[in-house]
Amino acid sequence: MKKTNIALAALFLLSPATGFAAKKKQLPPMSQFVTELMQKMTLEEKIGQLNLLPGGDLTTGAVMNSPLAEKVGAGELGAILNVKGVEKIKNLQEIAVKKTRLGIPLIFGQDVIHGYQTVFPLPLAQACSWDMAMIERAAQVAAAEATASGINWVYSPMVDIALDPRWGRVSEGAGEDPYLTSQVGAAMIRGYQGDYSDHNAMACVKHYALYGASESGRDYNTVDMSHVRMYNQYFAPYRAAAEAGAGSFMTSFNIVDGIPATANKWLIDDVLRKEWKFDGFVVTDYGSINEMVSHGVGNPLDNTAQALKAGTDMDMCSEAFVSNLKTCVEKGTVKESDIEQACRRVLEAKYKLGLFDNPYRFCDPKREKTELYTATNRSVARDMAAETFVLLKNQDNLLPLKKQGTVALIGPLADTRNNLPGSWSTGDKPEKYSTLREAMTRCLDGKATVLYAQGSNIYLDEKQQKEIEFGRPIERGNQQQMMDEALAVARKSDVVVACLGEMAEMSGECASRSNLELPDAQMMLLKELVKTGKPIVLLNFSGRATVLKWESENVNAIMNVWFAGSETGDAVCDVLFGDKVPTGKTVNSFPQNVGQLPLYYNHMNTGRPVPEGTDRFFKYQSNYLDVRNDPLYPFGYGLSYTTYEYGDLTLSSSKMKADGKVEASITVKNTGLRDGDEIVQLYIRDISASIARPVKELKGFQRIHLKSGESKTVKFDITRSQLEFYGSDLKPVVEPGDFTIMVGPNSRDLKTVKLTVE
Ligand code: BGC
Repeated sequence: MKKTNIALAALFLLSPATGFAAKKKQLPPMSQFVTELMQKMTLEEKIGQLNLLPGGDLTTGAVMNSPLAEKVGAGELGAILNVKGVEKIKNLQEIAVKKTRLGIPLIFGQDVIHGYQTVFPLPLAQACSWDMAMIERAAQVAAAEATASGINWVYSPMVDIALDPRWGRVSEGAGEDPYLTSQVGAAMIRGYQGDYSDHNAMACVKHYALYGASESGRDYNTVDMSHVRMYNQYFAPYRAAAEAGAGSFMTSFNIVDGIPATANKWLIDDVLRKEWKFDGFVVTDYGSINEMVSHGVGNPLDNTAQALKAGTDMDMCSEAFVSNLKTCVEKGTVKESDIEQACRRVLEAKYKLGLFDNPYRFCDPKREKTELYTATNRSVARDMAAETFVLLKNQDNLLPLKKQGTVALIGPLADTRNNLPGSWSTGDKPEKYSTLREAMTRCLDGKATVLYAQGSNIYLDEKQQKEIEFGRPIERGNQQQMMDEALAVARKSDVVVACLGEMAEMSGECASRSNLELPDAQMMLLKELVKTGKPIVLLNFSGRATVLKWESENVNAIMNVWFAGSETGDAVCDVLFGDKVPTGKTVNSFPQNVGQLPLYYNHMNTGRPVPEGTDRFFKYQSNYLDVRNDPLYPFGYGLSYTTYEYGDLTLSSSKMKADGKVEASITVKNTGLRDGDEIVQLYIRDISASIARPVKELKGFQRIHLKSGESKTVKFDITRSQLEFYGSDLKPVVEPGDFTIMVGPNSRDLKTVKLTVE
């Protein structure tokens, strides 16, 4: 044992073998433990705990040239992100434990946001399942695999409400609705963190706050909104995540009230900590303290002080805390107690993760060999993927396809392996995954013939295609030649399955798009395929709601398959050929064109509203000359292979006291031939209040299973929490008056009834 470790040895009851043999029960309670440890720490050591740097194995921000091992040994780091592989993590942990004076272990973070080696659908797609148990299970699997690779801190869930699919990061969140996003975020947190076993990781809720509201959907752009809107629309999921016990939060890149979120005291200290009682630690986003200067705010020294005093505890990749905090203390702009508070929160996270019990808790190379991409994990991912597909159109019940005849499988996404996982799949191993072509050939073996042609490039322009590859290329060829091949294949077939859309890296960070139509080369191909007169199924790959106006009018069936992860191939076949029935409902409104954006179902009415569903223009009313207001496919929409009929909506009483309870009931019948799951949605509108309220807001949903011909009565309790909103004083209130209660299969086709609150 090194002499310098002696101080901590007294606390940890060190064993000679590991240095950390003490069982949790032998450690003092967290607060006492951390206090005693901090009494032994120098100011530099405390500041070191607040520093987070990249390991360099993955690039998720500006590349940094940091001699990592030296910094660890010098006690200048509290955590590291993006180190790949348990052996490497173990080596770095050993340096922290054996070479630093107090042997404080490191946290290892990574963007594990939709699975690890077993890749689950993008978070946006997961939300389309509306299946919280499944989402929780997927997060559990993700944490189990990540921890098998040494990672104990995952940068997920992202709960930023996003109303504008031009923003590429809509793919990382749960869509446009605060209630649903809150549920999804909480389910993920439960799944990741569990009871902090060695198969659990600490969640990091991001990006606090309002990142999804960046103007014109351009990433990192300005955000400016009223506090009333923050509280009523954007804050709910962050608050729900804090209440779900998330261990950490990440600040966002944008400004809030003109102040970069990372240094916004109101946001972090007043709202997150004091109002919502969040007791974990707050980390900045990548380099965001340094970026304050580009925002035109402050100077490096003052910004460091401002970020810390706002309540930020850990600095990701700015090296501002480690470089400047000591000077700030000397100059009197930061008190040592501010640093201590931040250090305490970081050490508490380490305690919760069990790292003081055993710093090598997540460093078992055997686990990495045996617990990744297991048959069980793959089957969870396959089941989940099938639940996330959204059937947008199914003319004449073209789907499900029969396993017979000849299927033409066409498109640049039909035989790609590396694009299936989607963006932010930092633990993926594409070489292990089946392409759709391989899966379909397996699925139809001996029953039907699959003819394949790539058919087109992604874009006509080579440079444009290269720019969106980011290490996940798709072969480029001669567009005309590929198209001719595809048309020949189509003519020989009974049905065409066209696999078109975005490449993986066309959504995610820094992947904003101003045109959301099918990329030009693929649109050309699709138009020619339609001309063959063969029935066409479009599988739209996307990390966002795209513009499918022409497709909706010209192809027979459309299924949005998002990026569904490692098991995409099999999962698509499960649904396409009817072994499973689609149930997904979109959580991102599909626009008719980009000019409608931002577009979301829970908008305000305006003083000059036009009726929903209208097909005409109204002079001097709130509408466009050249497109109607409605989306192409509304929030909550998705078809099935069976049909459901909704009966009348009734209330147990048409009147209610603000603190009372009323039950809404509706009978739903499966009128089709297949058994299926239906997602029954409850919306509420406050007709007249002291401030303008949305035309409807999701306030509940239930996923029910109905056998063919079966009926079930679905009941929703309506209580105060569903009627409440934040008034202009930012306090929650229920105001007496009339409310419309609405239930239905999506946000458009609703049965309604009036409720009066007394
Ligand atoms: C992203 C975060 C991510 C971080 C670390 C940033 O660029 O905005 O979402 O967690 O990098 O990779």
